[in-house]
Amino acid sequence: MSELIDPFGRRIEYLRISVTDRCDLRCKYCIPEGFTDFEEPEHWLSFDEIARLVRLFAQLGLKRVRLTGGEPLLRRNIADLAGRIAAVPGIEDLSLSTNATQLEKHAVALKAAGVTRLNVSLDSLRPERIARINGRPAYDRIMAGIAAAKAAGFAPIKINMVALEGDNDDEIDAMVEWCMAQGFVLRLIENMPMGDTGRNVRYLDLQPVKEQIRRRFDLVETVLPGGGPARYLGTPDGRFTVGFITPISQHFCATCNRVRLTVDGVLHLCLGQEDRFELRPLLRGGATDAEIVEAIRAAIARKPERHEFREQPQKLVRFMSMTGG
Ligand code: GTP
Ligand code: 5AD
Ligand code: SF4
Repeated sequence: MSELIDPFGRRIEYLRISVTDRCDLRCKYCIPEGFTDFEEPEHWLSFDEIARLVRLFAQLGLKRVRLTGGEPLLRRNIADLAGRIAAVPGIEDLSLSTNATQLEKHAVALKAAGVTRLNVSLDSLRPERIARINGRPAYDRIMAGIAAAKAAGFAPIKINMVALEGDNDDEIDAMVEWCMAQGFVLRLIENMPMGDTGRNVRYLDLQPVKEQIRRRFDLVETVLPGGGPARYLGTPDGRFTVGFITPISQHFCATCNRVRLTVDGVLHLCLGQEDRFELRPLLRGGATDAEIVEAIRAAIARKPERHEFREQPQKLVRFMSMTGG
């Protein structure tokens, strides 16, 4: 079967699957403090439904899957789902993005199930800042989770830090040094204006930061395995790498290779646009594999060219927690 090519010639080979929209943290750039308006469990795609979609996407050239949330480790038996996805012919890369609060008890099972790569959100190394930025006093659990992932053999672990002016911009060097010492890949991320969380989130342009880090740590451009949008700098010996995810200051839409599936079976064609396609009615309405494949093709034919976070920062009302980044 032929591959999924969108109207701008981009090959879609990476599916980000949100397995729950719930989260045990309340990161200020992601989800409002008192948010409780979550999807109904009966709307959640079952593991059978998710595995079926992955199998059909894989027939269309899908190679990479990332499990996200909300917080994906809050979905019961997540390692079983990981095992089923890893076993789908054609899937070469199964990764997971987590806040690490529950990672201590899941790390070994995820590795055994075939998760190849882990990305962990960590915005500060200071407990009181984690409480403030991420909305809960979770420092100890996060650190225990990261340590467990390292002990389970995940390598490299990528640490995602959303850089926010006034919250953690003074900690970037400390984070570089900590990741260097720990053997982690650091990724600095520009905040994207998704739904209004009601909290003061100040965007930081990472271009000057990138130049400063390049000079201070004597880094050169490099590439890393992964399907995402980061651009990397590293030490010439390859021992340390830092990535920059800069959707606002230097967007990467021309090389976009991904779409997103929400827990209730909606395919989002771009993180920064509302274009979407409902797959759940097909899954639950008795559609054949061929009909679902045609629906996926029709959806990809509607993928927008790019986000407009810069031009229309108030455009999106949905929260980041719905698609998990
Ligand atoms: P790797 O495969 O390890 O490179 O991971 P990734 O960067 O694809 O995934 P991760 O979940 O760690 O996401 C890191 C950041 O990149 C998050 O802030 C995401 O929202 C952002 N991101 C990933 N894909 C896109 C995209 O298509 N558009 C935009 N604007 N941001 C994205
Ligand atoms: N802008 C940029 N990145 C975000 N993330 C969550 N919300 C935002 C936002 N508004 C990041 C998380 C996580 C990744 C999957 O997405 O920090 O590491
Ligand atoms: Fe939860 Fe991740 Fe959103 Fe933070 S960024 S609130 S950890 S879903």
